[in-house]
Amino acid sequence: MVMYNTRSQSMLAFALVVLASMSLVICSGSRKPHVVFIVADDLGWNDIGYNNPSIFTPTLDKLAREGVILNQSYVLPMCTPDRASLMSGYYAYRVGLQHKVLDHAEPAGLPLNFTLIPQRMKEHGYTTYMLGKWHLGFCKWEYTPTYRGFDHFYGFYNAAEDYFNHTTSKYLDLRNGKEVDWSKNGTYSTYMYAEKATEYIATHNKSTPMYMYLPFQSVHGVIEAPQKYLDMYTFIHDTNRRIKSAMVTAMDDAVKVVIAALERYELWDNTLLVFTTDNGGPANPNNAGNNWPLRGSKLTLWEGGTRGVGFVHGKMLEKKGYVNNEMMHVTDWYPTLLHIAGGKADSDMDGLNVWDTLNKGYPSPRKEFIYNIDEIEPTGAAIRVGDYKLIVGKAGHPDGWIPAPTIDGVWEEILPMNEYEGLLDGRLSKDNDTYLFNIKADPTERNNLAEQMPEKVAELSARLEELKQKLVPAIRPAPDPKGSDPRKFGGAWSPGWC
Ligand SMILES: *[C@@H]1O[C@H](CO)[C@@H](O)[C@H](O)[C@H]1NC(C)=O
Ligand SMILES: *[C@@H]1O[C@H](CO)[C@@H](O)[C@H](O)[C@H]1NC(C)=O
Ligand SMILES: *[C@@H]1O[C@H](CO)[C@@H](O)[C@H](O)[C@H]1NC(C)=O
Ligand SMILES: *[C@@H]1O[C@H](CO)[C@@H](O)[C@H](O)[C@H]1NC(C)=O
Ligand SMILES: *[C@@H]1O[C@H](CO)[C@@H](O)[C@H](O)[C@H]1NC(C)=O
Ligand SMILES: *[C@@H]1O[C@H](CO)[C@@H](O)[C@H](O)[C@H]1NC(C)=O
Repeated sequence: MVMYNTRSQSMLAFALVVLASMSLVICSGSRKPHVVFIVADDLGWNDIGYNNPSIFTPTLDKLAREGVILNQSYVLPMCTPDRASLMSGYYAYRVGLQHKVLDHAEPAGLPLNFTLIPQRMKEHGYTTYMLGKWHLGFCKWEYTPTYRGFDHFYGFYNAAEDYFNHTTSKYLDLRNGKEVDWSKNGTYSTYMYAEKATEYIATHNKSTPMYMYLPFQSVHGVIEAPQKYLDMYTFIHDTNRRIKSAMVTAMDDAVKVVIAALERYELWDNTLLVFTTDNGGPANPNNAGNNWPLRGSKLTLWEGGTRGVGFVHGKMLEKKGYVNNEMMHVTDWYPTLLHIAGGKADSDMDGLNVWDTLNKGYPSPRKEFIYNIDEIEPTGAAIRVGDYKLIVGKAGHPDGWIPAPTIDGVWEEILPMNEYEGLLDGRLSKDNDTYLFNIKADPTERNNLAEQMPEKVAELSARLEELKQKLVPAIRPAPDPKGSDPRKFGGAWSPGWC
Protein backbone atom coordinates (compact mmCIF):
# COMPACT_ATOMS: atom_id res chain seq x y z
CA MET A 1 0.00 0.00 0.00
CA VAL A 2 2.68 2.36 1.05
CA MET A 3 4.65 1.64 -2.07
CA TYR A 4 1.61 1.96 -4.30
CA ASN A 5 0.77 5.27 -2.69
CA THR A 6 4.22 6.65 -3.10
CA ARG A 7 4.26 5.55 -6.67
CA SER A 8 0.92 7.11 -7.51
CA GLN A 9 1.98 10.26 -5.73
CA SER A 10 5.11 10.46 -7.77
CA MET A 11 3.08 9.73 -10.92
CA LEU A 12 0.78 12.57 -9.93
CA ALA A 13 3.72 14.85 -9.24
CA PHE A 14 5.19 13.94 -12.61
CA ALA A 15 1.86 14.64 -14.33
CA LEU A 16 1.65 18.00 -12.58
CA VAL A 17 5.15 18.93 -13.67
CA VAL A 18 4.26 18.01 -17.27
CA LEU A 19 1.04 20.01 -17.09
CA ALA A 20 2.77 22.97 -15.53
CA SER A 21 5.46 23.04 -18.18
CA MET A 22 2.82 22.72 -20.90
CA SER A 23 0.88 25.69 -19.59
CA LEU A 24 4.16 27.56 -19.25
CA VAL A 25 4.76 27.05 -22.96
CA ILE A 26 1.26 28.26 -23.71
CA CYS A 27 1.54 31.36 -21.53
CA SER A 28 5.13 32.31 -22.10
CA GLY A 29 5.50 32.27 -25.81
CA SER A 30 3.45 32.04 -28.90
CA ARG A 31 0.05 33.22 -27.68
CA LYS A 32 1.00 36.83 -27.42
CA PRO A 33 -0.15 38.29 -30.71
CA HIS A 34 2.38 38.89 -33.43
CA VAL A 35 2.49 42.54 -34.38
CA VAL A 36 3.12 43.66 -37.95
CA PHE A 37 3.37 47.44 -38.01
CA ILE A 38 3.32 48.89 -41.51
CA VAL A 39 4.13 52.54 -42.16
CA ALA A 40 3.53 54.02 -45.59
CA ASP A 41 5.72 57.04 -46.24
CA ASP A 42 3.97 60.26 -47.33
CA LEU A 43 0.64 58.58 -48.04
CA GLY A 44 -2.05 61.25 -48.17
CA TRP A 45 -5.64 61.09 -46.94
CA ASN A 46 -6.85 60.84 -50.54
CA ASP A 47 -4.16 58.37 -51.65
CA ILE A 48 -5.85 55.15 -50.57
CA GLY A 49 -8.72 53.27 -52.17
CA TYR A 50 -11.16 53.40 -49.30
CA ASN A 51 -10.99 57.21 -49.34
CA ASN A 52 -10.59 57.59 -53.09
CA PRO A 53 -12.07 55.21 -55.66
CA SER A 54 -9.49 56.23 -58.31
CA ILE A 55 -6.73 54.51 -56.33
CA PHE A 56 -6.47 50.70 -56.53
CA THR A 57 -5.64 49.24 -53.14
CA PRO A 58 -7.75 46.08 -52.99
CA THR A 59 -5.66 44.43 -50.27
CA LEU A 60 -5.51 47.45 -47.99
CA ASP A 61 -9.20 48.20 -48.56
CA LYS A 62 -10.21 44.65 -47.62
CA LEU A 63 -8.05 44.67 -44.49
CA ALA A 64 -9.40 48.07 -43.49
CA ARG A 65 -13.02 47.03 -44.03
CA GLU A 66 -12.57 43.79 -42.07
CA GLY A 67 -10.67 45.62 -39.35
CA VAL A 68 -11.10 49.03 -37.75
CA ILE A 69 -10.57 52.17 -39.83
CA LEU A 70 -9.01 54.88 -37.67
CA ASN A 71 -10.69 58.10 -38.70
CA GLN A 72 -8.95 60.36 -36.17
CA SER A 73 -5.45 58.95 -35.97
CA TYR A 74 -3.06 61.89 -35.80
CA VAL A 75 0.57 61.94 -36.92
CA LEU A 76 3.25 64.61 -37.13
CA PRO A 77 3.66 66.69 -40.30
CA MET A 78 6.89 65.03 -41.47
CA CYS A 79 9.13 61.96 -41.26
CA THR A 80 11.73 62.45 -38.54
CA PRO A 81 9.38 64.04 -35.97
CA ASP A 82 6.74 61.41 -36.62
CA ARG A 83 9.12 58.46 -36.40
CA ALA A 84 10.72 59.91 -33.26
CA SER A 85 7.27 60.01 -31.64
CA LEU A 86 6.37 56.52 -32.83
CA MET A 87 9.61 54.98 -31.57
CA SER A 88 9.84 56.84 -28.25
CA GLY A 89 6.20 57.38 -27.19
CA TYR A 90 7.04 61.06 -26.57
CA TYR A 91 6.03 64.15 -28.54
CA ALA A 92 8.83 65.09 -30.92
CA TYR A 93 9.24 68.43 -29.12
CA ARG A 94 10.21 66.54 -25.96
CA VAL A 95 12.76 64.46 -27.83
CA GLY A 96 14.41 67.42 -29.60
CA LEU A 97 13.37 66.27 -33.09
CA GLN A 98 10.49 68.68 -33.73
CA HIS A 99 12.20 70.83 -36.35
CA LYS A 100 12.16 69.46 -39.90
CA VAL A 101 14.01 66.24 -40.74
CA LEU A 102 17.53 64.90 -40.28
CA ASP A 103 19.82 65.56 -43.21
CA HIS A 104 22.44 63.07 -44.54
CA ALA A 105 25.34 64.92 -43.03
CA GLU A 106 23.80 65.88 -39.71
CA PRO A 107 25.67 64.39 -36.76
CA ALA A 108 22.55 63.66 -34.69
CA GLY A 109 19.97 61.03 -33.95
CA LEU A 110 17.09 60.11 -31.68
CA PRO A 111 18.72 60.70 -28.25
CA LEU A 112 20.08 57.52 -26.72
CA ASN A 113 18.44 57.98 -23.33
CA PHE A 114 15.06 57.03 -24.84
CA THR A 115 14.22 53.34 -24.70
CA LEU A 116 12.52 52.54 -27.99
CA ILE A 117 9.46 50.36 -28.48
CA PRO A 118 11.36 47.46 -30.12
CA GLN A 119 13.65 47.31 -27.07
CA ARG A 120 10.62 46.98 -24.84
CA MET A 121 8.99 44.37 -27.11
CA LYS A 122 12.21 42.36 -26.93
CA GLU A 123 12.18 42.49 -23.14
CA HIS A 124 8.74 40.91 -23.36
CA GLY A 125 9.91 37.99 -25.49
CA TYR A 126 9.34 39.31 -29.00
CA THR A 127 11.75 38.68 -31.85
CA THR A 128 12.02 42.06 -33.58
CA TYR A 129 12.44 42.85 -37.25
CA MET A 130 12.67 46.09 -39.14
CA LEU A 131 12.46 46.54 -42.90
CA GLY A 132 12.64 49.89 -44.67
CA LYS A 133 13.32 53.48 -43.71
CA TRP A 134 14.90 54.55 -40.42
CA HIS A 135 15.55 58.33 -40.67
CA LEU A 136 16.37 58.72 -36.98
CA GLY A 137 20.12 59.21 -37.28
CA PHE A 138 23.09 57.02 -38.21
CA CYS A 139 26.29 59.00 -37.52
CA LYS A 140 27.28 56.35 -34.96
CA TRP A 141 26.25 52.72 -34.67
CA GLU A 142 24.50 53.34 -31.35
CA TYR A 143 21.83 55.36 -33.19
CA THR A 144 21.03 52.62 -35.71
CA PRO A 145 18.23 50.02 -35.65
CA THR A 146 20.23 46.94 -34.63
CA TYR A 147 21.54 48.83 -31.59
CA ARG A 148 18.08 50.06 -30.65
CA GLY A 149 16.06 46.94 -30.23
CA PHE A 150 15.85 45.35 -33.66
CA ASP A 151 17.24 41.81 -33.87
CA HIS A 152 17.08 42.10 -37.66
CA PHE A 153 17.25 45.08 -39.97
CA TYR A 154 17.02 45.36 -43.71
CA GLY A 155 16.72 48.88 -45.04
CA PHE A 156 18.16 52.37 -45.27
CA TYR A 157 19.08 55.16 -42.90
CA ASN A 158 18.21 58.35 -44.79
CA ALA A 159 15.05 60.14 -45.89
CA ALA A 160 14.68 59.00 -49.47
CA GLU A 161 16.54 57.35 -52.33
CA ASP A 162 16.18 55.93 -55.79
CA TYR A 163 13.78 52.96 -55.71
CA PHE A 164 15.89 50.89 -58.12
CA ASN A 165 19.56 51.62 -57.39
CA HIS A 166 19.07 52.56 -53.70
CA THR A 167 21.34 55.58 -53.80
CA THR A 168 20.80 59.00 -52.31
CA SER A 169 23.02 62.00 -53.08
CA LYS A 170 25.09 59.69 -55.30
CA TYR A 171 25.86 56.97 -52.73
CA LEU A 172 24.28 53.70 -51.70
CA ASP A 173 22.12 53.49 -48.61
CA LEU A 174 21.00 49.88 -48.12
CA ARG A 175 21.92 47.44 -45.41
CA ASN A 176 21.27 43.91 -44.28
CA GLY A 177 21.90 44.16 -40.55
CA LYS A 178 25.18 46.07 -40.34
CA GLU A 179 26.39 44.97 -43.77
CA VAL A 180 26.06 47.10 -46.89
CA ASP A 181 24.01 45.30 -49.54
CA TRP A 182 25.24 46.00 -53.07
CA SER A 183 23.27 43.16 -54.62
CA LYS A 184 19.90 44.78 -55.21
CA ASN A 185 20.73 47.24 -57.97
CA GLY A 186 17.70 47.20 -60.29
CA THR A 187 15.20 45.74 -57.81
CA TYR A 188 12.26 48.04 -56.99
CA SER A 189 12.44 48.51 -53.23
CA THR A 190 8.78 47.72 -52.60
CA TYR A 191 9.35 44.20 -53.99
CA MET A 192 12.64 43.94 -52.11
CA TYR A 193 11.01 44.57 -48.74
CA ALA A 194 8.12 42.22 -49.43
CA GLU A 195 10.59 39.49 -50.36
CA LYS A 196 12.76 40.06 -47.32
CA ALA A 197 9.71 40.14 -45.04
CA THR A 198 8.69 36.78 -46.48
CA GLU A 199 12.14 35.41 -45.69
CA TYR A 200 11.96 36.71 -42.12
CA ILE A 201 8.50 35.22 -41.66
CA ALA A 202 9.60 31.85 -43.09
CA THR A 203 12.54 31.59 -40.71
CA HIS A 204 10.85 33.10 -37.66
CA ASN A 205 11.11 30.93 -34.53
CA LYS A 206 7.46 30.23 -33.88
CA SER A 207 7.87 29.76 -30.17
CA THR A 208 8.47 33.53 -29.89
CA PRO A 209 6.02 36.28 -30.80
CA MET A 210 7.02 38.46 -33.75
CA TYR A 211 7.24 42.24 -33.85
CA MET A 212 7.78 43.32 -37.44
CA TYR A 213 8.16 47.03 -38.13
CA LEU A 214 7.77 47.58 -41.87
CA PRO A 215 8.17 51.26 -42.77
CA PHE A 216 8.10 51.05 -46.56
CA GLN A 217 10.09 53.45 -48.72
CA SER A 218 6.79 53.74 -50.62
CA VAL A 219 5.34 56.18 -51.49
CA HIS A 220 7.90 58.92 -50.78
CA GLY A 221 9.57 60.72 -53.69
CA VAL A 222 11.63 60.07 -55.88
CA ILE A 223 8.43 59.06 -57.62
CA GLU A 224 9.05 55.83 -59.56
CA ALA A 225 6.93 52.79 -60.28
CA PRO A 226 7.21 49.61 -62.35
CA GLN A 227 5.48 49.79 -65.71
CA LYS A 228 2.75 47.28 -64.94
CA TYR A 229 1.34 49.58 -62.26
CA LEU A 230 1.63 52.67 -64.46
CA ASP A 231 -0.44 50.83 -67.04
CA MET A 232 -3.31 50.60 -64.56
CA TYR A 233 -3.65 54.37 -64.42
CA THR A 234 -3.82 55.50 -68.03
CA PHE A 235 -6.99 57.42 -67.10
CA ILE A 236 -4.93 59.82 -64.97
CA HIS A 237 -3.37 62.31 -67.36
CA ASP A 238 -1.16 64.13 -64.86
CA THR A 239 2.12 62.23 -65.16
CA ASN A 240 3.27 62.57 -61.58
CA ARG A 241 -0.14 61.76 -60.13
CA ARG A 242 -0.20 58.65 -62.33
CA ILE A 243 3.20 57.55 -61.02
CA LYS A 244 2.20 58.27 -57.43
CA SER A 245 -0.98 56.24 -57.80
CA ALA A 246 1.00 53.37 -59.34
CA MET A 247 3.40 53.43 -56.38
CA VAL A 248 0.49 53.06 -53.98
CA THR A 249 -0.79 50.03 -55.87
CA ALA A 250 2.68 48.46 -55.91
CA MET A 251 2.77 48.83 -52.13
CA ASP A 252 -0.69 47.29 -51.87
CA ASP A 253 0.66 44.24 -53.74
CA ALA A 254 3.63 44.08 -51.38
CA VAL A 255 1.27 43.99 -48.40
CA LYS A 256 -0.56 41.13 -50.11
CA VAL A 257 2.71 39.21 -50.40
CA VAL A 258 3.50 39.76 -46.70
CA ILE A 259 0.05 38.57 -45.64
CA ALA A 260 0.30 35.50 -47.84
CA ALA A 261 3.56 34.63 -46.04
CA LEU A 262 1.98 35.17 -42.62
CA GLU A 263 -0.84 32.82 -43.65
CA ARG A 264 1.47 30.23 -45.13
CA TYR A 265 3.63 30.08 -42.00
CA GLU A 266 0.57 30.08 -39.75
CA LEU A 267 1.17 33.36 -38.01
CA TRP A 268 -1.68 35.33 -39.54
CA ASP A 269 -4.54 34.19 -37.30
CA ASN A 270 -2.69 35.58 -34.30
CA THR A 271 -1.36 38.75 -35.96
CA LEU A 272 -2.37 42.28 -35.11
CA LEU A 273 -1.67 44.33 -38.23
CA VAL A 274 -1.34 48.09 -37.95
CA PHE A 275 -1.24 50.25 -41.05
CA THR A 276 -0.54 53.98 -40.89
CA THR A 277 1.00 56.78 -42.85
CA ASP A 278 3.84 58.78 -41.27
CA ASN A 279 2.37 62.15 -42.33
CA GLY A 280 0.04 63.67 -44.89
CA GLY A 281 0.73 63.53 -48.61
CA PRO A 282 3.10 66.10 -50.11
CA ALA A 283 0.59 68.00 -52.21
CA ASN A 284 2.99 69.59 -54.66
CA PRO A 285 3.45 68.98 -58.38
CA ASN A 286 6.69 66.97 -58.01
CA ASN A 287 5.35 64.54 -55.46
CA ALA A 288 1.65 64.52 -56.34
CA GLY A 289 0.36 63.35 -52.97
CA ASN A 290 -3.17 64.38 -52.12
CA ASN A 291 -5.18 65.04 -48.97
CA TRP A 292 -8.50 66.17 -50.38
CA PRO A 293 -10.85 67.26 -48.81
CA LEU A 294 -8.52 68.13 -45.92
CA ARG A 295 -6.68 71.42 -45.86
CA GLY A 296 -2.95 71.69 -46.48
CA SER A 297 -0.27 69.09 -46.99
CA LYS A 298 2.72 67.28 -45.57
CA LEU A 299 5.00 69.77 -43.71
CA THR A 300 2.01 71.70 -42.34
CA LEU A 301 0.03 71.74 -39.12
CA TRP A 302 -3.22 71.66 -41.11
CA GLU A 303 -5.27 68.47 -40.98
CA GLY A 304 -3.92 67.50 -44.41
CA GLY A 305 -0.46 67.17 -42.87
CA THR A 306 -1.49 65.52 -39.63
CA ARG A 307 -4.71 63.52 -39.86
CA GLY A 308 -3.24 60.23 -40.97
CA VAL A 309 -4.81 57.37 -42.87
CA GLY A 310 -4.66 54.19 -40.85
CA PHE A 311 -6.40 51.06 -39.66
CA VAL A 312 -5.88 47.97 -37.54
CA HIS A 313 -6.73 44.39 -38.43
CA GLY A 314 -6.64 41.21 -36.42
CA LYS A 315 -8.84 38.20 -35.77
CA MET A 316 -8.44 38.83 -32.05
CA LEU A 317 -10.17 42.23 -32.19
CA GLU A 318 -13.44 42.07 -30.30
CA LYS A 319 -15.19 44.75 -32.36
CA LYS A 320 -14.34 45.17 -36.01
CA GLY A 321 -15.69 46.02 -39.44
CA TYR A 322 -16.44 49.67 -38.73
CA VAL A 323 -15.00 53.18 -38.79
CA ASN A 324 -13.71 54.33 -35.40
CA ASN A 325 -13.93 58.09 -34.82
CA GLU A 326 -12.09 58.17 -31.50
CA MET A 327 -9.07 60.42 -31.17
CA MET A 328 -5.62 58.89 -31.10
CA HIS A 329 -2.06 60.07 -31.64
CA VAL A 330 1.06 58.40 -33.03
CA THR A 331 2.67 58.40 -29.56
CA ASP A 332 -0.14 56.07 -28.42
CA TRP A 333 1.23 53.08 -30.33
CA TYR A 334 4.12 52.68 -27.88
CA PRO A 335 2.08 52.10 -24.69
CA THR A 336 -0.58 50.23 -26.67
CA LEU A 337 1.85 47.75 -28.21
CA LEU A 338 3.64 47.40 -24.91
CA HIS A 339 0.33 46.57 -23.26
CA ILE A 340 -0.28 43.84 -25.84
CA ALA A 341 3.19 42.48 -25.10
CA GLY A 342 2.38 42.36 -21.38
CA GLY A 343 4.16 45.53 -20.24
CA LYS A 344 3.36 49.02 -19.06
CA ALA A 345 4.81 52.32 -20.27
CA ASP A 346 6.23 55.02 -17.99
CA SER A 347 3.51 57.33 -16.74
CA ASP A 348 5.46 60.41 -17.86
CA MET A 349 5.12 59.31 -21.49
CA ASP A 350 2.91 61.37 -23.82
CA GLY A 351 1.44 58.26 -25.44
CA LEU A 352 -1.65 56.64 -23.90
CA ASN A 353 -2.70 53.02 -23.99
CA VAL A 354 -5.64 52.99 -26.43
CA TRP A 355 -6.04 49.21 -26.63
CA ASP A 356 -9.64 49.22 -25.38
CA THR A 357 -10.48 51.80 -28.03
CA LEU A 358 -8.94 49.70 -30.80
CA ASN A 359 -10.08 46.35 -29.47
CA LYS A 360 -13.56 47.13 -28.19
CA GLY A 361 -14.44 50.55 -29.55
CA TYR A 362 -14.44 52.13 -26.09
CA PRO A 363 -14.12 55.94 -25.81
CA SER A 364 -10.51 56.98 -26.20
CA PRO A 365 -8.60 58.02 -23.08
CA ARG A 366 -7.08 60.72 -25.29
CA LYS A 367 -8.84 64.09 -24.99
CA GLU A 368 -6.09 66.38 -26.24
CA PHE A 369 -2.77 66.31 -28.08
CA ILE A 370 -0.03 68.53 -29.42
CA TYR A 371 0.24 68.56 -33.23
CA ASN A 372 3.78 69.87 -32.91
CA ILE A 373 5.67 72.77 -31.39
CA ASP A 374 8.49 74.10 -33.53
CA GLU A 375 10.43 76.91 -31.89
CA ILE A 376 12.72 77.46 -34.88
CA GLU A 377 11.72 79.53 -37.90
CA PRO A 378 9.14 79.01 -39.37
CA THR A 379 7.80 78.83 -35.82
CA GLY A 380 4.41 77.32 -35.32
CA ALA A 381 2.45 75.22 -32.87
CA ALA A 382 -0.95 73.60 -32.67
CA ILE A 383 -2.99 71.86 -30.02
CA ARG A 384 -6.25 69.94 -29.98
CA VAL A 385 -8.46 69.92 -26.89
CA GLY A 386 -11.76 68.11 -27.30
CA ASP A 387 -13.31 69.20 -30.58
CA TYR A 388 -11.23 72.38 -30.83
CA LYS A 389 -7.90 73.00 -32.53
CA LEU A 390 -5.75 76.07 -32.01
CA ILE A 391 -2.91 77.00 -34.37
CA VAL A 392 -0.51 79.79 -33.45
CA GLY A 393 2.30 81.06 -35.64
CA LYS A 394 2.93 79.43 -39.00
CA ALA A 395 0.78 76.50 -40.01
CA GLY A 396 2.88 76.03 -43.14
CA HIS A 397 2.56 75.63 -46.90
CA PRO A 398 1.18 74.32 -49.21
CA ASP A 399 -2.06 75.63 -47.81
CA GLY A 400 -5.56 75.38 -49.21
CA TRP A 401 -7.86 72.63 -50.48
CA ILE A 402 -6.07 70.96 -53.30
CA PRO A 403 -7.97 68.51 -55.49
CA ALA A 404 -6.13 65.56 -57.03
CA PRO A 405 -4.86 66.63 -60.44
CA THR A 406 -6.04 64.69 -63.43
CA ILE A 407 -4.42 66.45 -66.36
CA ASP A 408 -0.86 67.64 -66.90
CA GLY A 409 -0.24 71.24 -66.01
CA VAL A 410 -3.25 71.58 -63.77
CA TRP A 411 -1.08 71.73 -60.65
CA GLU A 412 0.54 74.92 -61.73
CA GLU A 413 -2.90 76.42 -61.99
CA ILE A 414 -4.49 74.92 -58.91
CA LEU A 415 -1.75 75.54 -56.41
CA PRO A 416 -1.06 79.25 -56.71
CA MET A 417 -4.70 80.04 -57.51
CA ASN A 418 -5.90 78.17 -54.51
CA GLU A 419 -3.53 79.97 -52.21
CA TYR A 420 -4.05 83.29 -53.91
CA GLU A 421 -7.83 83.19 -53.82
CA GLY A 422 -7.79 82.00 -50.26
CA LEU A 423 -5.59 84.88 -49.22
CA LEU A 424 -7.85 87.38 -50.96
CA ASP A 425 -11.03 86.21 -49.32
CA GLY A 426 -9.30 85.76 -45.97
CA ARG A 427 -9.62 81.98 -45.63
CA LEU A 428 -5.90 81.27 -45.80
CA SER A 429 -3.07 82.07 -43.45
CA LYS A 430 -0.95 85.15 -43.74
CA ASP A 431 1.82 83.41 -41.82
CA ASN A 432 1.59 84.70 -38.25
CA ASP A 433 -1.91 83.96 -37.32
CA THR A 434 -4.17 82.53 -34.71
CA TYR A 435 -6.65 79.93 -35.88
CA LEU A 436 -9.36 78.20 -33.95
CA PHE A 437 -11.41 75.45 -35.54
CA ASN A 438 -14.07 73.10 -34.32
CA ILE A 439 -12.67 70.01 -36.03
CA LYS A 440 -15.74 67.90 -35.36
CA ALA A 441 -18.09 70.39 -37.04
CA ASP A 442 -15.50 71.68 -39.52
CA PRO A 443 -12.96 68.94 -40.29
CA THR A 444 -11.68 70.80 -43.35
CA GLU A 445 -10.76 73.95 -41.40
CA ARG A 446 -12.75 76.51 -43.34
CA ASN A 447 -14.22 78.51 -40.52
CA ASN A 448 -11.75 80.32 -38.26
CA LEU A 449 -13.50 80.90 -34.93
CA ALA A 450 -10.63 82.77 -33.26
CA GLU A 451 -12.36 86.16 -33.23
CA GLN A 452 -15.74 84.75 -32.25
CA MET A 453 -14.47 82.66 -29.36
CA PRO A 454 -11.67 84.52 -27.53
CA GLU A 455 -12.20 82.54 -24.30
CA LYS A 456 -11.66 79.28 -26.17
CA VAL A 457 -8.50 80.71 -27.73
CA ALA A 458 -7.30 81.75 -24.27
CA GLU A 459 -8.08 78.34 -22.81
CA LEU A 460 -6.23 76.42 -25.52
CA SER A 461 -3.32 78.91 -25.54
CA ALA A 462 -2.90 78.45 -21.81
CA ARG A 463 -2.83 74.66 -22.17
CA LEU A 464 -0.36 74.92 -25.05
CA GLU A 465 1.92 77.15 -22.97
CA GLU A 466 1.71 74.72 -20.08
CA LEU A 467 2.71 71.73 -22.22
CA LYS A 468 5.41 73.77 -23.93
CA GLN A 469 7.27 73.98 -20.61
CA LYS A 470 8.58 70.48 -21.35
CA LEU A 471 10.12 71.48 -24.68
CA VAL A 472 13.64 70.20 -25.36
CA PRO A 473 15.39 72.60 -27.77
CA ALA A 474 15.64 71.17 -31.27
CA ILE A 475 18.85 69.19 -31.80
CA ARG A 476 20.30 70.69 -34.95
CA PRO A 477 24.09 70.45 -35.08
CA ALA A 478 25.86 71.87 -38.14
CA PRO A 479 26.10 69.34 -40.99
CA ASP A 480 29.43 67.56 -41.36
CA PRO A 481 29.80 66.86 -45.08
CA LYS A 482 33.48 65.87 -44.72
CA GLY A 483 32.96 63.46 -41.84
CA SER A 484 29.92 61.84 -43.36
CA ASP A 485 31.39 61.55 -46.88
CA PRO A 486 30.48 58.03 -48.09
CA ARG A 487 33.73 57.78 -50.07
CA LYS A 488 35.46 57.28 -46.71
CA PHE A 489 33.27 54.24 -46.09
CA GLY A 490 33.56 52.33 -49.35
CA GLY A 491 30.89 54.36 -51.15
CA ALA A 492 27.90 53.81 -48.86
CA TRP A 493 26.29 56.09 -46.28
CA SER A 494 27.69 54.71 -43.03
CA PRO A 495 27.98 55.28 -39.28
CA GLY A 496 31.28 56.27 -37.72
CA TRP A 497 31.59 60.06 -37.92
CA CYS A 498 30.25 61.45 -34.65
C1 LIG B 1 -14.59 60.33 -40.81
O1 LIG B 1 -14.26 61.65 -40.49
C2 LIG B 1 -14.80 62.62 -41.37
C3 LIG B 1 -14.24 63.95 -40.98
O2 LIG B 1 -14.54 64.26 -39.67
C4 LIG B 1 -16.32 62.59 -41.27
O3 LIG B 1 -16.85 63.54 -42.17
C5 LIG B 1 -16.79 61.21 -41.64
O4 LIG B 1 -18.18 61.14 -41.45
C6 LIG B 1 -16.12 60.16 -40.77
N1 LIG B 1 -16.47 58.85 -41.29
C7 LIG B 1 -17.26 58.01 -40.63
C8 LIG B 1 -17.65 56.80 -41.37
O5 LIG B 1 -17.61 58.19 -39.48
C1 LIG C 1 16.56 62.39 -22.26
O1 LIG C 1 17.37 63.54 -22.17
C2 LIG C 1 16.68 64.75 -22.48
C3 LIG C 1 17.70 65.87 -22.56
O2 LIG C 1 18.51 65.86 -21.45
C4 LIG C 1 15.61 64.98 -21.41
O3 LIG C 1 14.92 66.16 -21.68
C5 LIG C 1 14.64 63.82 -21.47
O4 LIG C 1 13.68 63.96 -20.45
C6 LIG C 1 15.37 62.48 -21.31
N1 LIG C 1 14.39 61.45 -21.60
C7 LIG C 1 14.29 60.33 -20.90
C8 LIG C 1 13.22 59.38 -21.32
O5 LIG C 1 15.03 60.08 -19.98
C1 LIG D 1 20.46 56.01 -59.48
O1 LIG D 1 19.29 56.42 -60.16
C2 LIG D 1 19.15 57.81 -60.31
C3 LIG D 1 17.82 58.08 -60.98
O2 LIG D 1 16.83 58.14 -59.98
C4 LIG D 1 20.28 58.35 -61.14
O3 LIG D 1 20.18 59.75 -61.23
C5 LIG D 1 21.60 57.99 -60.48
O4 LIG D 1 22.65 58.38 -61.30
C6 LIG D 1 21.70 56.51 -60.21
N1 LIG D 1 22.90 56.32 -59.42
C7 LIG D 1 23.65 55.21 -59.40
C8 LIG D 1 24.90 55.25 -58.60
O5 LIG D 1 23.33 54.19 -59.96
C1 LIG E 1 23.53 50.05 -60.94
O1 LIG E 1 23.65 49.51 -62.22
C2 LIG E 1 23.85 50.52 -63.22
C3 LIG E 1 23.75 49.86 -64.59
O2 LIG E 1 24.43 48.63 -64.61
C4 LIG E 1 25.19 51.18 -62.97
O3 LIG E 1 25.42 52.17 -63.93
C5 LIG E 1 25.15 51.82 -61.59
O4 LIG E 1 26.40 52.37 -61.26
C6 LIG E 1 24.78 50.79 -60.53
N1 LIG E 1 24.55 51.50 -59.29
C7 LIG E 1 24.94 51.02 -58.12
C8 LIG E 1 24.62 51.86 -56.95
O5 LIG E 1 25.51 49.97 -57.97
C1 LIG F 1 13.16 29.28 -30.37
O1 LIG F 1 12.84 30.08 -29.26
C2 LIG F 1 12.76 29.38 -28.05
C3 LIG F 1 12.23 30.32 -26.98
O2 LIG F 1 13.04 31.47 -26.89
C4 LIG F 1 14.14 28.83 -27.73
O3 LIG F 1 14.09 28.09 -26.53
C5 LIG F 1 14.60 27.92 -28.86
O4 LIG F 1 15.92 27.51 -28.64
C6 LIG F 1 14.52 28.67 -30.19
N1 LIG F 1 14.78 27.74 -31.27
C7 LIG F 1 15.69 27.99 -32.19
C8 LIG F 1 15.81 26.98 -33.29
O5 LIG F 1 16.37 29.00 -32.17
C1 LIG G 1 5.85 85.97 -36.08
O1 LIG G 1 5.85 85.54 -34.72
C2 LIG G 1 7.12 85.28 -34.22
C3 LIG G 1 6.98 84.65 -32.85
O2 LIG G 1 5.99 85.31 -32.11
C4 LIG G 1 7.93 86.58 -34.22
O3 LIG G 1 9.23 86.33 -33.73
C5 LIG G 1 8.04 87.07 -35.65
O4 LIG G 1 8.69 88.30 -35.68
C6 LIG G 1 6.64 87.23 -36.26
N1 LIG G 1 6.78 87.49 -37.69
C7 LIG G 1 6.02 88.38 -38.31
C8 LIG G 1 6.25 88.53 -39.79
O5 LIG G 1 5.16 89.04 -37.74
